[in-house]
Amino acid sequence: MNASLSTEQLSFPALWQHPHLLDLERLSAAEILAILRTADQLKTMTDGCRRKVSLLAGKTCANLFFENSTRTRNSFSLAAKRLGADTVEFSSSGSSVAKGETFVDTAKTIEAMGVDWVVTRHSTPGTPHLLARELDCCVLNAGDGPHEHPTQGLLDMLTILQHRVGSDWRNESADPEKIFSGMTVALVGDIAHSRTARSNLWGLRKLGAHVIICGPPTLVSPRWEELGFEVAHRLDEIVHRCDVLNLLRIQFERQKARPFPSVYEYAALYAMNGQRLRLAKDDILIMAPGPINRGVEITPEVADGPHSVILEQVTNGIAVRMASLWLLANAKDNAASSETHA
Ligand code: CP
Repeated sequence: MNASLSTEQLSFPALWQHPHLLDLERLSAAEILAILRTADQLKTMTDGCRRKVSLLAGKTCANLFFENSTRTRNSFSLAAKRLGADTVEFSSSGSSVAKGETFVDTAKTIEAMGVDWVVTRHSTPGTPHLLARELDCCVLNAGDGPHEHPTQGLLDMLTILQHRVGSDWRNESADPEKIFSGMTVALVGDIAHSRTARSNLWGLRKLGAHVIICGPPTLVSPRWEELGFEVAHRLDEIVHRCDVLNLLRIQFERQKARPFPSVYEYAALYAMNGQRLRLAKDDILIMAPGPINRGVEITPEVADGPHSVILEQVTNGIAVRMASLWLLANAKDNAASSETHA
């Protein structure tokens, strides 16, 4: 990283033209890489996401969260503030939703207060896509049910890049579709209910990684194989081949019936623990989007051990959210300016 990077050196990637960030499935490898490079630069410019710069002064970001969040909500808020923007915090509990106001009316009401971005989290898949059609401002998906969580996928990929890919990916000449070539990443756990899994699957594959989806058959459909992903049902059989393990939380709150006999049996087969770590490559990267269920997907010795980058993922969350806010706002301003001059 270049420690002396200044905001004047931040150049807007011409290929980025989206006013919304709704999912990674529909972005190209080059577009994903453009966000990751911008995030990497902004992380440097803000001294590791700690210092304020004025790139987005005068703009306002509204967080509309209809589900709980610690990491995503606070890091979107900090990302906006680090770039000089104001923030509005909305939670469905305690709001006029209890009086019968609809989701779209609520979002339009917040937008009418003069916001430039709406960041939304909702249990229903497609709600950010609905807002993108209904609102004039930029819309960012902070998690729509089990569908996608694009900024989580991006921060996971940024963390892998910073640890495992040297520095060539920062050059404009790097081929976006080969950035992760030769790398094997396993997503382990509750794939059926995981929006983080879906964003990672699309993003990692577009950038050239080999992706293994691992978990009990009740949580990992064999149909993922039809889409070209490797499916495994035993972590012990694949752990030695992995460069990165991303351990996904068992989402008890989304399950209609328990997909395994007991948490103890799940942990016996799928928890990353010290014994399994000894089967892994010496430099394996251990990741988890959080929150983690200690002792279920991962034991404390691994979560807090030298291979874990879980807290770095959190810091990188601010970086990718700064990049997303900046890219979307510039794309929208550029489009408005082109219309004015047409
Ligand atoms: N990873 C993630 O989305 O965490 P939060 O639910 O705390 O935002």
